[in-house]
Amino acid sequence: MSHRIVTLNQFIVEQQKDFPCSEGRLTRLLSDIGAAAKVITREVRKAGLVDILGALGSVNVQGEEVQKLDDYANSTLQGFIKAGGECAVIASEEDDDVVVLENTYHHIQPKYVVAMDPLDGSSNIDVNASIGTIFSIYRRVSAQGNAGKEDVLQKGSEQVAAGYVIYGSSTMLVLTTGNGVNGFTLDPSIGEFCLSHPSICMKPEGMIYSVNEQNYHSFSQGTQRFIDYCKETDTATGRPYSARYIGSLVADFHRNLLKGGIFMYPSTQKAPIGKLRLVYECNPMAFIAEQAGGRATNGTLRILDIKPTELHQRVPFAVGSENLMDQLQTHLTAWG
Ligand code: AHG
Ligand code: MN
Ligand code: MN
Repeated sequence: MSHRIVTLNQFIVEQQKDFPCSEGRLTRLLSDIGAAAKVITREVRKAGLVDILGALGSVNVQGEEVQKLDDYANSTLQGFIKAGGECAVIASEEDDDVVVLENTYHHIQPKYVVAMDPLDGSSNIDVNASIGTIFSIYRRVSAQGNAGKEDVLQKGSEQVAAGYVIYGSSTMLVLTTGNGVNGFTLDPSIGEFCLSHPSICMKPEGMIYSVNEQNYHSFSQGTQRFIDYCKETDTATGRPYSARYIGSLVADFHRNLLKGGIFMYPSTQKAPIGKLRLVYECNPMAFIAEQAGGRATNGTLRILDIKPTELHQRVPFAVGSENLMDQLQTHLTAWG
């Protein structure tokens, strides 16, 4: 008996057929990102074996130490995206400014924009815990020949596609093109991402909360009371809820997406406007969450409605299942 395997590339080609005017250019861009993810996987898998671990010695724009794998993931993704010729501008968490790629390889003007966090959760590399790559795709808004920062600074609701790759016990790519969320697991024996998690839905009744509780005392009162609520005993709502926190957004988000839960990175004393980046981290995760039936806010506003003003802008972030997002909102409204 043979089962039909659906690869990532087959899946996106088939999905694009639903759009009669599609020229296959988004398909090309997505498959290039998939190819880059396989190359990064290979490097991640040998992280403990070769001299790729440890700091590179430079400091990125966020003031954090850049790890070698961050750098490797950044240049690999940029190389694939550039060669594909479909992207006009890349904004990367690892670069101070946008990289304009206009018309480098092809005669046709590129019409897409990519924002990405090439390697998320880098503090987990040294301890062999899951790390990831996050990406987000927009249509360019500039006229031909003028691509730049403005093409990146669009509201998250304008995203054409978003996804992440989790380098976990297996590598998985989770993708939305605005028509639900699908997960593909990399089968190393054939080197293909295969559809393993079709139509992912985030349970409306989540029972996991994920937050760095070290910061509890600098959270707002509403956030503190919400955390207290998660810990209270109440059989009707299944509380207390479980606490789970890896410290790698991709891994924490992925678990909650599959199992139901809430992830929060609120503002703290050290990070008064939050830690996570709107463009590279929050928008793509918010798009995926909403496409799976979940929600994402900064505590007040829907993440996807916030117009970024800076490439590296940070925002307080809460994302997750309906029940937990409702409860968080109730507590924030009551206590601030
Ligand atoms: P990055 O490795 O891309 O800089 O991101 C790290 C982020 C994110 O992955 C995670 O959710 C968060 O930092 C964890 O921060 P704390 O260690 O402050 O909890
Ligand atoms: Mn990150
Ligand atoms: Mn990063």
